[in-house]
Amino acid sequence: MVTCGPGLKDYLQAEIEALGFEITSTREGTVLTRGSFIDCMKLNFCLRTAYNVLYLLRHFRCGSTEALYKQISTVPWEKIIDPKEHLCVLSRVDTHTVNNSMYPNLKVKDAIVDRINRKTGSRPDSGRDRNSVVVNLFWKEDKAWIYLNTSGVKLSDRSYRRMPHKAPLRESLAAAIIMATGYDGSRDIVLPMCGSGTLAIEAALIAMNKPAGALRSNFGFKHVKGYDEQIWKKLRNDVRKTIRKDAMQKIIATDIDEQAIYAARQNARTAGVEHLIEFNACDFAETEMPTGEGIVVMNPEYGLRLGELEPLEKEYKRIGDFLKQRCAGYTAYILVGNKELSVKIGLKASRRMVFYNGNIECRLLKYELYKGTRQPPNSGQD
Ligand SMILES: C[S@@+](CC[C@H](N)C(=O)[O-])C[C@H]1O[C@@H](n2cnc3c(N)ncnc32)[C@H](O)[C@@H]1O
Repeated sequence: MVTCGPGLKDYLQAEIEALGFEITSTREGTVLTRGSFIDCMKLNFCLRTAYNVLYLLRHFRCGSTEALYKQISTVPWEKIIDPKEHLCVLSRVDTHTVNNSMYPNLKVKDAIVDRINRKTGSRPDSGRDRNSVVVNLFWKEDKAWIYLNTSGVKLSDRSYRRMPHKAPLRESLAAAIIMATGYDGSRDIVLPMCGSGTLAIEAALIAMNKPAGALRSNFGFKHVKGYDEQIWKKLRNDVRKTIRKDAMQKIIATDIDEQAIYAARQNARTAGVEHLIEFNACDFAETEMPTGEGIVVMNPEYGLRLGELEPLEKEYKRIGDFLKQRCAGYTAYILVGNKELSVKIGLKASRRMVFYNGNIECRLLKYELYKGTRQPPNSGQD
């Protein structure tokens, strides 16, 4: 099972299928596929829109916390977890038997460490740190599933964003937005209002075909008994052979705030893509637009706090003017979190895609900015 953020399942499914895996089912926040432990390693290395790759150990009927303890105790944990490793248990519980997940979480942890202690004479430490072995329990009504979390820390934490700026997008969300634009590196892409550079960095990674997992060294699977470093090295080398090194089209990222550009540049350097992105501190309307038929993606502020809406209305109107006057021939995508503001753009979107930025329901509005006069005026629906 592979998990993802709300609204990203279709992008995750497409990624998993593109890697040659068959999808057995999907649900909001999860995509199910079949594979070996080595397949989990590959998914961890390649996926851009996933949170966690979970390897099913066992599923069983479970009517009480005593039954849970008993069932978990039958898994040969001493063959999976070395007592020197640290254990983190995560639980999601939806059953009338208990009314919160803390007690079942404790039961699972106890069952695992008690068994390892019985079999080896020592027990792993446990706590909330996800940098070592992570085990996930899902318990719904009278059914329970226990998984080894082969990712550990969420895959969306790419570790390149050492310098966050205001309201940064989660990396997996930024990757999905770039995927939604159809961007593959064959066209110029311009990212005004780039903030800490997440969209620009994810675009550069996609253009290079560089796996997101190449940016981090630690994964949950590395802490599991029997992990084979040689298999991991070969797998990475095989995937890396497809990284593109030839000349690419332009990636331009701008922001009015010099601090944001400084942070974005540092983050791009950490991600190994600084050389691919042209950064510039300027008002979005001054952004250099290469001639041709590129893509422009913007993530303006949503105006969530009191008193922010009015000044932002003018900014959204300016965004519309910028698209009309400077972006002819481009396809534009604006991530908006406020309908009232998006109307001020004053253009009719050809598509609206739903995304969730944290708990804010957003729309990625698509605008075809034809050369000449083909752009229809806004009908007031955006
Ligand atoms: C919501 S944040 C973008 C966050 C970004 N997607 C990230 O992941 O870090 C909006 C950005 O727009 C920038 N901004 C606001 N007004 C601007 C303007 N007139 N011209 C250019 N950038 C502007 C802000 O400095 C801020 O970095």
